[in-house]
Parts: sequence; C-alpha cells; structure tokens
Amino acid sequence: MLAQLPHTQEIPLAGWTQTMQRSVLRQMIAVVSRPGILSFAGGLPDPALFPTTDYAAALAHVLATDPKALQYGMPFAPLKQHIVQLMALRGVTCTAEQIFLTTGAQQGLDVLARLLLDPGGEVMFEELVYTGAQQVVAPFLPHILPVSTDLVEGMNVDEVEAYLAGGARPSGASPAFIYTIPDAHNPLGVSMSQTRRERLVELALAYNVPLIEDDPYGLLQYGEWEIERFQSPNLPISQSLPLRALNDSHVFYLGSFSKIMAPALRLGWIVAPAALVTKIGVVKEAADLESSALTQRAVAAYLDAGHLPGHLATLRREYGRRRDAMLAALYRYFPAEARWTEPQGGMFIWVELPEEMDAAVLLETAIAQENIVFIPGHAFTVPGRHIHNCMRLNFSNCSEEMIEDGIKRLAKIINCEL
Ligand SMILES: Cc1ncc(COP(=O)(O)O)c(C=O)c1O
Repeated sequence: MLAQLPHTQEIPLAGWTQTMQRSVLRQMIAVVSRPGILSFAGGLPDPALFPTTDYAAALAHVLATDPKALQYGMPFAPLKQHIVQLMALRGVTCTAEQIFLTTGAQQGLDVLARLLLDPGGEVMFEELVYTGAQQVVAPFLPHILPVSTDLVEGMNVDEVEAYLAGGARPSGASPAFIYTIPDAHNPLGVSMSQTRRERLVELALAYNVPLIEDDPYGLLQYGEWEIERFQSPNLPISQSLPLRALNDSHVFYLGSFSKIMAPALRLGWIVAPAALVTKIGVVKEAADLESSALTQRAVAAYLDAGHLPGHLATLRREYGRRRDAMLAALYRYFPAEARWTEPQGGMFIWVELPEEMDAAVLLETAIAQENIVFIPGHAFTVPGRHIHNCMRLNFSNCSEEMIEDGIKRLAKIINCEL
C-alpha cells in the first residue's frame, strides 16, 4: 500500500526553474486591466485596427470550401508563396523552400534556440533585449554575452567583434548564435544603421556564427519623424536592408503576422538556410506538430483577396500619427535632461530619464496618482546588467489624444520629483 504523503510535499522541478521569474510584462497585466488605466505598458496592436471583417470572410470561405482546413496537414504551400512576396517587399529574395511556418515568431525563436544552443552554451544578446528571447534560452542555463546598443545606430558591433576575436566560449569556439532586432527594436525603438548591419553580417561569416534576425515590426515603418511619411498605399521598403538581404547562409530571419494582422492568429515564419529546414521541422514537431492548418489557409485566403497592402497603409498611417503624437508630447512636456529614441517604425519609444530618477518608483507614483502604466527599463536587462532611470513607452494602443494627455500627466510627476 502507498504511504500517505503529506499534501505539503513539493513536487521536484527541473533545476533551471530555480532561476525562473515571471516577466514584469505579464505581472503588469492585472494592473493594465483595471478600469480607467491608461497603458503605455504592453506591446499590443490596437484591436480597433484588426482586419476583422475581411479575415472573417476569408475564414468563412476556407471553412466552406476547403475540406483540408480542419485536418492535420503539410505546411500550406500557397501561404509560403505569399510570404516570399512579403519578403521581397522587405528587400529580401528567398524561395518557398527557405520558408518555414511557425506558431508565431516566438516559436521561431524557440525552435532555433533548440536547434543551435547546447545546455550551458553561449548566446550573444544586446544588454536590453526582448524578454521573450531571454525566456526561450533560460532552460539551457546559457552564458549570455551582453553587447551594448547605441540609441541612434543600434547594436555595438565593435563589442561583437571583441567577443568573437577573443574566442567567446571557454573552448575558444564562437557563441551558438547572435540575436538582434535590427528594425524598430523592442524595447529601444532604434533601427540599426546600414554600416553596422553589413559589419555584423561580415563578422557572422568570418567567425561562422549564426545570426537570428527578429523582425516583427519590419513592415510597420513610418519614415523619419517630421521629415517624411509614407503616404502611398504601396508597401514600404525599409530604408535599411534586413540582415537576411545581405546573407542567406548564416542569417535566420523571423517574421510574424501578429503585428501586421493580429496576434491571435499565432502565425509566423522563419526564412532559414534551405539545408536546415528539415531539421527545424523535426524540432518544431516536438512542440506542436504543426501550426494550425485552418489559420494558414485563412491567412492565405485573406492575402489572395489582396487586402494586406491597404491594411498596412492604414496601420502605418495610424501608428505613424501616434508615434508623432508621443514624440511631440515628449518634446513639449518632458524635462530637457531626458532623452528618447525617435523610432522609424514599430511600437515603442525608449526614454532615458535624468540619472537621479528611478523608473520603478516613478511607476508606483504614476499608477497611484495618475492611473498610468509603463514598463521600467530594467525589465529588459540581461542578468548582471542594471539600469534604473529608463522606461519603455508603447504608442500603438492609445489614441493621439490619450497619448498627449498621458505624457503630459507623466511629465507632471517627473517634474515634481526632479
Ligand atoms: C521582438 C519580438 N519578437 C517576437 C515577438 C513575438 O511575436 P509573435 O506574436 O509572432 O510570437 C514579439 C512580440 O511582441 C516581439 O516584440
């Protein structure tokens, strides 16, 4: 007979979970959902801009006409052809054989980490990095090689070179991969200069290190602040070319429909070196067998109907206006000692407050006094790095009026504390 065990006995967990932390962003969800709160915190697209009607029509059409839509199945080839065309608009030439469909860019990142990283291995991250990238590698207990990021030019490639030239791993070998977001960085909002992109790719080739280029915001470009705005309904081509346009042997490109259509589709893609696509498939199979056949076919039907260019033009116009509204309000109300990025695209502005300010304390005051939330910058730091005076502001999910009002109220608190 089994001995009666006390209910309090803890289930033993895998060792790496001892370092596990709930992301600050997830913790914030409870606060953000309070009535009356004004949130600059998340990275959410505006639900009012989801292509609901056109997607509903595409979905209904697929369900009515395609008997394979609810079955297990192969990746949907027509969708890959559409992605080849989307990539061409980003200035990237690729073939359907190089496209691998994923359940969002997050899964793309997860699958690549499993493919490339050994337990206890090394990865190169920017010191301020998308939290989902840190979560993906955490089970490997990796050694992270942190690289700084310039707020105008992007990732510091001299530091990348210094690591690689020194033989980053104790064995003298190179890290498992370098992860970066060259366009409209999350959380920094910066886009990497063309010169740095070229050098980064050269380094990757010289030291035989794969580059993971995460590009969920590449098709959401608004042009320079106050200088130029894309008015044309044509899709924009980034002013700088993606890393994948510069090299197809060492760059793994991550794309996503989350920000250009809707996150709940959970659909993204990797543009990978063709020789590795089969292996990537084996890794993904272990996670979820395949991405939803229904969604793949419905998104393909939406794209077949030609809705995306007009939809993207709407997103660029709306989000571009909100970016402009936030920058204008920052210039109008924030103290002269503060500085911030002027993103060409994406959803975030990074603000550096005067050195003596603590963004975590400011957040508490902002919630208590003004019902406003944002993410303090320290939420994005890699282990061993700390910053106290920075904040990430999201501009995609509030109206221009709310942005102007919220930044004014935030500035009031900041100016009182200075
Ligand atoms: C930089 C970055 N990568 C990946 C993702 C995840 O995207 P997806 O919804 O396609 O999984 C996000 C989402 O915010 C992101 O900001």
